[in-house]
Amino acid sequence: MKFAITTEKVKESRISQLDPNNIGFGKVFTDHMFLADYENGEWINPRIVPYGPMSLSPATSAIHYGQAIFEGMKVFASSKNDHDIVMFRPTDNAKRLNKSAARLAMPEVPEDLFMAGLTQLLELDRQWVPRVEGGALYVRPYMFATDDFIGVKPSERYCFAIFCCPVGPYYNKALRVKVEEEYSRAAPGGVGFTKCAGNYAAAMYPTALAQKEGFDQVLWTDPIEHKFVEETGTTNFFAVLNDKIVTPSLTHTMLAGITRDSVVQSLRHLGHEVEERPLSVNELKEHLSAGNLKELFITGTAATLINLDGFGHDGQYYEVQKNGDNTISTEVKKFLDDIKLQHSDDVFSWNVVI
Ligand code: COI
Repeated sequence: MKFAITTEKVKESRISQLDPNNIGFGKVFTDHMFLADYENGEWINPRIVPYGPMSLSPATSAIHYGQAIFEGMKVFASSKNDHDIVMFRPTDNAKRLNKSAARLAMPEVPEDLFMAGLTQLLELDRQWVPRVEGGALYVRPYMFATDDFIGVKPSERYCFAIFCCPVGPYYNKALRVKVEEEYSRAAPGGVGFTKCAGNYAAAMYPTALAQKEGFDQVLWTDPIEHKFVEETGTTNFFAVLNDKIVTPSLTHTMLAGITRDSVVQSLRHLGHEVEERPLSVNELKEHLSAGNLKELFITGTAATLINLDGFGHDGQYYEVQKNGDNTISTEVKKFLDDIKLQHSDDVFSWNVVI
């Protein structure tokens, strides 16, 4: 399918307002955004317009009944060629968006529409991709229901949009996480595996409680027994047990992180043993007291890969950071960064260069 995307450019770029050494995360947006509408069973009017407010009916169904899904991906400045920018695994984001869409009774976005909108937007705003260490362009593709209608049924109209923000690191230090045993992020048969807005809303209250106790994030446990770790509020989770790496196997209540998958594949490529299996809080505690728990780290598009300082459970804090020197997480982070920045060969063909 071919999509004719119209473009309305900004009169003047805002890029001179960007301080590349003080970017922050999620506060600055590039000059343009991509929009497409879904009506009468088809995607129409794909367009690139200046980034700015959208006009919505107060009855917009996404606001009331929650048909709202999104993705997060990153684009990097190539170290090989000053003009080139590198999208990391963009078609995996398109595929995951469509998995979320199916579960929330929303239409799929054809992969070629996703890629055409993304590529043309990035071509226009490529000068916004930061060329500073740790910087990237964070891209937010999303879809929401636009019917103005009161009543619970799938919307007939939707908006698919993409905007971008230059970002620095999401986290700047090793995190302290609280093992969450009272609240659940998701339930079996629910929408935990999707990237829907409501999953993040449901996490905010327990996260705020954990932050009041001095933690940075919650570490979700399984919703049935609260025994097995699943993921944090913003990332997937890994533990290094001696020289073996364990990450919770994906369940219906967990988000299948693209960074998680990249880390698993990279670790195996580097010759490490990776187990994807249930991992209980008790097992983590036993390994820690036996001196086998060498590193804990978390992975996500925004967070990239960051170590955990330790975890709180049952009123006690278990410090992990002091146990090891984070050799494995440092190795795999560098391996992935080198691919994204084109310092090394893209052995998995993950990059799409434009
Ligand atoms: C991402 O990692 O892309 C997310 O959507 C999570 C959020 C912390 C920004």
